[in-house]
Amino acid sequence: MKAIVITHPGSADVLQMLERPVPTPLAGEVLIKVMAAGVNRPDVAQRKGSYPAPPGTSADIPGLEVAGIIEQCGELVTRWKPGDSVCALVAGGGYAEYAIANAAHCLPVPTQWSFAEASSLPETVFTVWHNVFQRGRLQSGEHFLVHGGSSGIGITAIQLAKAFGAKVFATAGSEEKCEACILLGADKCINYKEEDFEDALKNEGVDVILDMIGGEYVPKNIRLLKPDGRLVFINAMKGAEAVFNVFDIMGRRLTITGSTLRNREVEFKAQLAVEIEKNVWPLLKSKKIKPVIYREFPLAEASSAHTLMESSKHIGKIVLSNHQL
Ligand SMILES: NC(=O)c1ccc[n+]([C@@H]2O[C@H](COP(=O)([O-])OP(=O)(O)OC[C@H]3O[C@@H](n4cnc5c(N)ncnc54)[C@H](OP(=O)(O)O)[C@@H]3O)[C@@H](O)[C@H]2O)c1
Repeated sequence: MKAIVITHPGSADVLQMLERPVPTPLAGEVLIKVMAAGVNRPDVAQRKGSYPAPPGTSADIPGLEVAGIIEQCGELVTRWKPGDSVCALVAGGGYAEYAIANAAHCLPVPTQWSFAEASSLPETVFTVWHNVFQRGRLQSGEHFLVHGGSSGIGITAIQLAKAFGAKVFATAGSEEKCEACILLGADKCINYKEEDFEDALKNEGVDVILDMIGGEYVPKNIRLLKPDGRLVFINAMKGAEAVFNVFDIMGRRLTITGSTLRNREVEFKAQLAVEIEKNVWPLLKSKKIKPVIYREFPLAEASSAHTLMESSKHIGKIVLSNHQL
């Protein structure tokens, strides 16, 4: 099969299309003929060598989410059969003609969603559901803030938080990005290049913050949180170290938490899939949650997809399609 391989750590042009053997599904796994694969910021970090694949996963073929058609089922797989259309969270190996997924990490392609649209779902929906609704315990009527509102994670977080009844705030780096966040349901979006988000939101207060920025945002986030507020980290793009006032945590009983999805256990992801199918999938069927695909590239142009992602010009998701091979 053709696969995009990280030939060595470096800039986008280290991604090369090479021939690789088609993988074989083990017990509990399925082989998917990949029609489309989502591109995520962690793929860029993996390509640069700063986010290595966990042991036992495809070490040099990136790609954390795919949509396609089941080609073959390993032993003990009962839910799926060859020919079923699924999207799946994979621990790597998505940028290829075929990928292996655990059968319990696959979900049906939602009605009326294309393969490209469905491939944009798993990584962001699993990440947002776990961090905003499980760790962050966001409740209807609460105030929610997501930084990087126009990112793949951001567009999912805005739509899900709104659908579950929160008042939603976002930050983004341009007026155009802020307009997109508002169209997706954000009640307010702060262009952080023009306005300080802490000043803009201090009269509102926030119950749950999803932060991928870190650094100087940390003390600002903490000051914005209401009593019993929750700050959830999924990255620290502006720095992993921060100075903040511990008495703020104690006085308002704040919770600081965070997680990374990729290295979590198979069973954890399977349970997350069950909860997501129950709570999120019905909203996809009705298109209450919409796909936001900024650009689709043929698989062979994965390096251009990474260059676009690193430019941060995109709004929403970038996907790679296999049908143009
Ligand atoms: N922990 C987990 O399990 C997990 C899982 C998936 C993703 N993530 C993280 O979630 C974040 C979003 O992922 P994604 O795939 O949705 O990414 P994405 O679509 O590429 O979006 C990232 C956005 O962050 C902003 N940004 C980029 N570099 C920045 C910097 N140095 N400082 C401030 N803002 C910056 C940009 O928007 P502006 O123009 O608005 O600045 C950019 O559009 C990434 O950091 C990723 O690593 C974590």
